[in-house]
Amino acid sequence: MIVVFLGPSGCGKGTQAEYLKQNHGFIHISTGDLLRAEQDNKTEIGLQIAEDMANGKLISDDIILALVNKQLDLYPESSLLFDGFPRTLPQAEALENVLREAHKEISCVVDFSVSEKDLYARIEGRFICVKCSALYHDPHRMPREHGVCDVCSGTEFTTRPDDKPEVLAKRLEWFKNIVAPVRAFYKQKDLLKTLDASQPIEQVREEILSFLHL
Ligand code: AP5
Repeated sequence: MIVVFLGPSGCGKGTQAEYLKQNHGFIHISTGDLLRAEQDNKTEIGLQIAEDMANGKLISDDIILALVNKQLDLYPESSLLFDGFPRTLPQAEALENVLREAHKEISCVVDFSVSEKDLYARIEGRFICVKCSALYHDPHRMPREHGVCDVCSGTEFTTRPDDKPEVLAKRLEWFKNIVAPVRAFYKQKDLLKTLDASQPIEQVREEILSFLHL
């Protein structure tokens, strides 16, 4: 099964993707995570990506598609969950072409809908385990034991450099400007499912599972 999570920054894509990866065997392909890994390489491209992401800019389609194609080569037979990709119409069309060549197709595009006020609250409260990148939120999703990661027992947490309110405003603006044609592309293919992602995490999860018939 191939699933796409479409939605603005902080809407909960990563949180729900993590659940599907752990419990339903999906390979989680997050272009944000791939870009952060690229930054860690400290190459010239990595440094440029770091600067653009810290300023809330979109990364070029060429770079994104090169990163995604590598993942597609790595996991030819798996169930795939794309998180934050495609974000532009050229990305959506390129994915369509690659999948067609591989005789595959997208099963569902989940369109996360959350108010802007909630997005700010989610991003302001987000913190991440340094060791395993598990996602938390103060107060909505705290570790079970104070200061200890539920997943890896790590005790160090951090926040993302692009999670400042002024950068979030730019990320949301980009999203608004570019997402309409992507939505229309998938709506026309009858793949789009609109999700009320303002609900608590468990209810959002249930709705996604029903969309995917899992
Ligand atoms: P990326 O890393 O993909 O970030 P994003 O799309 O901005 O989304 P986030 O990761 O911020 O949020 P999320 O929806 O995953 O929410 P989360 O589950 O963490 O991209 C970063 C940057 O990379 C982009 O700005 C761009 O520069 C670049 N980029 C990436 N892909 C690209 C592409 N395809 N093309 C071009 N450029 C690209 O949840 C947020 C918080 O809320 C967490 O603390 C969580 O615990 C909490 N939470 C989640 N769900 C709920 C709930 N239901 N109720 C209460 N709290 C909740």
